[in-house]
Amino acid sequence: RKSGRSTEMASIALVLAFCFLGFFVPAPSVASPSNNNDFLRCLSTSIPSQLVLTPSSPSFTPLLVSSIRNARLVAPATASPPLCIVTPTNASHVQAIVRCGRRHSVRVRVRSGGHDNEGLSYRSTTPNGEAFAVIDLAKLHAVHVIPHEATAWVETGATTGELYYRVATAAPGLGFPASVCPTVGVGGIISGGGIGLMMRKYGLSADNVLDASMVDAGGNLLANKKAMGDDLFWAIRGGGGGNFGIVLAWKLRLVPVPPKVTFLKVAKTMDQGAVDAVTKWQTLAPVLPDDLSVRVVIQKSQANFQSLYLGNCSTVVATMRSRFPELGVTSADCKEMSWLQYTAYIYFGDAINNKPLEALLLNRSTTLGPFVKNKSDYVKKALTKETWKKIFLWPNGARSGQLILEPHGGIMGRISTAKNPFPHRSSVLYNIQYVELWNGKEAGGNITPNWIGSLYDFMTPYVSKNPRGAYVNYRDLDMGVNKVVDGVTCYETAKVWGERYFGAANFRRLAKIKGKVDATEYFRNEQSVPPLPLK
Ligand code: FDA
Repeated sequence: RKSGRSTEMASIALVLAFCFLGFFVPAPSVASPSNNNDFLRCLSTSIPSQLVLTPSSPSFTPLLVSSIRNARLVAPATASPPLCIVTPTNASHVQAIVRCGRRHSVRVRVRSGGHDNEGLSYRSTTPNGEAFAVIDLAKLHAVHVIPHEATAWVETGATTGELYYRVATAAPGLGFPASVCPTVGVGGIISGGGIGLMMRKYGLSADNVLDASMVDAGGNLLANKKAMGDDLFWAIRGGGGGNFGIVLAWKLRLVPVPPKVTFLKVAKTMDQGAVDAVTKWQTLAPVLPDDLSVRVVIQKSQANFQSLYLGNCSTVVATMRSRFPELGVTSADCKEMSWLQYTAYIYFGDAINNKPLEALLLNRSTTLGPFVKNKSDYVKKALTKETWKKIFLWPNGARSGQLILEPHGGIMGRISTAKNPFPHRSSVLYNIQYVELWNGKEAGGNITPNWIGSLYDFMTPYVSKNPRGAYVNYRDLDMGVNKVVDGVTCYETAKVWGERYFGAANFRRLAKIKGKVDATEYFRNEQSVPPLPLK
């Protein structure tokens, strides 16, 4: 493990040296130092004061914490708070924030659902770093469904749960492929791709974006893709949030769903053959019918198979019994329900039986859970049974860890890697998300997670290589953070993480687009796409 880390450190040192040697011709950066009071005064000329909260307001901290899902990210966020949080109620407010920010050298971070795994939508990892404001889009969450077109416009402050609810109630028979968890924001998830249980049939959320409106780095409103141009419209559909502008709304292609879908769940312990079942699942799940998605959550040496079938129980039981007899599926393992009920059931479980489906329109101030650290991988060649046995028995210590395996294949394998910035397509069997959870009371809660780091190192030979792929929506700052040299983010440093999220060609294209639309990097964070000069 140590030698892997030293090689990584050496390569980071090399690219840093490359940057400092002046490889990059610096673009002019945003002027400094910032004048925070002038910025706030500027906001007050265009935005009602009740929409701008500064740390002196009693509502500031509750609002800041309101959509944070990860206790690990709370303390640092409150220790170094943003200059203010603005909750715009229309596009002109967003434009005003960007214009005032540019004028007075205050950058912005934009937040939709607040689920960023490293909290980049509301916190900066640099203590006492440059001033920044948070644009919290929670008040912009309208969903306008156009049933006869099978499309919808959704504002980016909406969660996927709100989207599902509004679509299914306005247009029964239609749905949208996005996250399993309904609290995720459509601003972030669609910006980074959007994987879920309908992606094998219909692709990523980003594959189903027909149009969008956004505010660019100059504070201009670009009302549709024509105003953006092909490159920018390509970049915002999977190139990662917080890079190219603030998306205000997406126009989505809605997809057909049958009146009844099936939820199927089977758990297997190691004694019941979990290792054999997961070993087989790796090559089976990506070639099952596109209507059937079977994912696996591995926790405490147990494999939980959860699936969505766009059809009825008897058909899926027959399919599973013939293709995956090892699971021993019976009709007792499945439940038929509407697609909307499914989106609630997979999140709330049986508790949804006592709640109305309006629970999907969640109040986003959910209880803060444990400390969490995530990483991700892509698998292109199945792991052996012996390797899985070691993974199932990986020591947890006092912490708990989860592996979530999401099958690819289906239409995902038929979409070109250049269609949008998300590159993990034809050769991928499945995605792994590693999740480490702990209570954080130990050592102030900020210690380096151990389960996840050691398992991730162990997995190196078994997962995708050159580069080792990762999903941008499972953001991981351990993969590298940007280095700003002479006022500009160094492309060579950023490549270390960027090519892993997007592949070399897509990352280069993203950087060129950044060079075209935001050359001075008004939108900049620890893992923002750096600008490359156009030629
Ligand atoms: P957040 O508001 O934190 O934004 C994330 C990033 O996007 C930030 O960089 C932010 O600045 C930027 N951004 C937000 N709104 C923007 C806008 N309007 N314009 C431009 N940039 C914007 N993923 C997945 O694909 N499938 C899944 O099933 C799940 N499930 C899941 C469950 C849980 C509990 C978590 C914590 C995360 C997931 N994810 C996921 C990952 C999720 O897709 C990822 O964290 C998204 O970036 C979250 O989007 P939010 O808008 O919620 O986050």
